[in-house]
Amino acid sequence: MVVYLVGAGPGDLELITLKAVNILKKADLVIYDNLVNEDILNFADNAERIYVGKKAGTHYKSQNEINNILIEQSKNYEIIVRLKGGDPFVFGRGGEEILILIENNIAFEVIPGISSAIGIPTSIGLPVSHRTVATSFTVITGHEDPKKSNKQVKWDYTADTLIILMSVGKIKENTEALMKYRSNDTPVCVIENGTLPNERIIFGTLKDIGDKKINTPAILVIGEVVDIYKKIYK
Ligand SMILES: C[S@@+](CC[C@H](N)C(=O)[O-])C[C@H]1O[C@@H](n2cnc3c(N)ncnc32)[C@H](O)[C@@H]1O
Repeated sequence: MVVYLVGAGPGDLELITLKAVNILKKADLVIYDNLVNEDILNFADNAERIYVGKKAGTHYKSQNEINNILIEQSKNYEIIVRLKGGDPFVFGRGGEEILILIENNIAFEVIPGISSAIGIPTSIGLPVSHRTVATSFTVITGHEDPKKSNKQVKWDYTADTLIILMSVGKIKENTEALMKYRSNDTPVCVIENGTLPNERIIFGTLKDIGDKKINTPAILVIGEVVDIYKKIYK
């Protein structure tokens, strides 16, 4: 019995890896989160499915409940795929689940996925690094676990490009915090439903992006690379 922790990629069905598709085809059970493209589950047409994600208005499984499902189901199935959006280790709690598998002597493998953090800007042609203006980038959560007493997101990042995930509900709070360290005019590009047919690209600055209507899921790319992108595609 093996649990495969698999990244489903950012949304477009063709942006999942061949390795992920091959293991989904062999899977007996798929335990999956809120995927931006549920058509990916069709690769696993012989598998049972357990949904453990979060959808508006419905109860969702806590991490403890998910851990227990993994432990219990590993007694019943040979090939279990634990499927997560993007890459399992980028704000995907992949590390936490692996620690539980190790504690319980359950064999596992990890199959990476294209993370929305980099794959989505790249898919629209927005370079997150660019020799003349950006030699570094940082990926940040816009929604740090509110239960954490020692907050790690302090917004004083020095990287040239900032990429923020999970920011939609907190966009004003996030941009206001950033304006303590960066100019109000810093360009921002938001990509909503990246790599999907309903993708939307919204431009603004740190000062005004919070006033625009933005839906989930979305990522924010912040920095001079946004101006480079505008030059490439003008
Ligand atoms: C819980 S995090 C999981 C990230 C995932 N593990 C990854 O590597 O992409 C979910 C966040 O990823 C971003 N995201 C994922 N898919 C997206 C998409 N298709 N378009 C825009 N943002 C997306 C959003 O910021 C969303 O709030």
